[in-house]
Amino acid sequence: MHSKISWGKNYTKHKMTDFSIAVVGCGKWGMNHVKTACKLFGDKLKYCIDSADKEKAVKDISGSIIFSEDISKVIEDADVKGVIVSTPAETHFEITKKLLNAGKHVLVEKPITLKSEEAVILNDLAISKRLILMVGHLLLYHPAVLKIKELLDEGRLGKLQYIYSNRLNLGTVRTEENILWSFAPHDISVIQFLTGDIPEKVNATGSVFLTKNIQDTTLTVMKFKNNIHAHIYVSWLHPFKEQRLVIIGDKSMIVFEDSLKDNKLKFYPKGIEMVNGIPVKRDEDFINIEFDSTSPLELEQKHFAECITQKKTPRSDGKNAIEVLETLERAQKELIKI
Ligand SMILES: NC(=O)c1ccc[n+]([C@@H]2O[C@H](COP(=O)([O-])OP(=O)(O)OC[C@H]3O[C@@H](n4cnc5c(N)ncnc54)[C@H](O)[C@@H]3O)[C@@H](O)[C@H]2O)c1
Repeated sequence: MHSKISWGKNYTKHKMTDFSIAVVGCGKWGMNHVKTACKLFGDKLKYCIDSADKEKAVKDISGSIIFSEDISKVIEDADVKGVIVSTPAETHFEITKKLLNAGKHVLVEKPITLKSEEAVILNDLAISKRLILMVGHLLLYHPAVLKIKELLDEGRLGKLQYIYSNRLNLGTVRTEENILWSFAPHDISVIQFLTGDIPEKVNATGSVFLTKNIQDTTLTVMKFKNNIHAHIYVSWLHPFKEQRLVIIGDKSMIVFEDSLKDNKLKFYPKGIEMVNGIPVKRDEDFINIEFDSTSPLELEQKHFAECITQKKTPRSDGKNAIEVLETLERAQKELIKI
């Protein structure tokens, strides 16, 4: 369906859109957006915006990208329809508002904003201008997460009982936002996606070691309708990387370990059944589950482009972003108490 265009020595790119795309913010994560957009959209990735020290890294990816420190270049170019914003969270509101007001569709990184009132303003603005507002809840585009959702919906796990997510690393320590805001948006978005619901109750505790008032470790506990429970443990003070999602149903269980090299998704036909009032264990070997190996970021950007061309509502739209942000805020309020 997509025409192939050749690009330099090492790249073959797929031209997906007739309009141009821009990336604002070319830091650690933003450069992944630049590389992916370059692969997907070829020379339709027209602009990258950041401070001058990022120009070389961008130009090394593609010499045809126009690099600028000035976002008005993007705003004034009618050929640019979609903009990816990957700047620090505290800048998302102003930059996204400016872009939406200029008539651009926006894919903004998580968390959409730092306050749900601001996310509501952005969502209302996008709706009133009939523009796409999508948030980078990457895991909602992960083929393994989509596979888990499919298995749940087919009833292969039975009744959903418990979900937990560990997102741990000796990682990028932020001093302007805590670990909850940095890591947990992903886990909240996945848990709310899998349960198809928002939690009735949210509790959270956290520990501060490095920067005053900035939690390095948090544990968030959530209770959903129908006796479904979940917890999220996130830390950037951990000896090794672990991204582990465990889903317990009353028939079977699934473990997704994205931090493993292979065999990331395992199905466990295990459980406890009450037989005549006695708990009886069913304990069979796990089965590896295959899933599409396309990068989630590629699928996320593709989804953004398709939503623009086909006027579709993104899976991680403004409403979804607000629901995740509200859960973050509820957890944050609990953190302040201790
Ligand atoms: N989806 C994911 O899995 C994922 C992973 C990591 C980070 N993120 C998110 O991506 C965003 C960026 O994170 P990062 O780790 O790349 O941060 P970073 O600090 O490495 O990069 C941010 C970049 O934005 C630039 N910038 C700041 N203000 C700007 C402005 N007004 N205009 C243009 N550029 C500006 C900075 O110069 C910097 O290069 C954050 O919201 C973060 O939460 C998402």
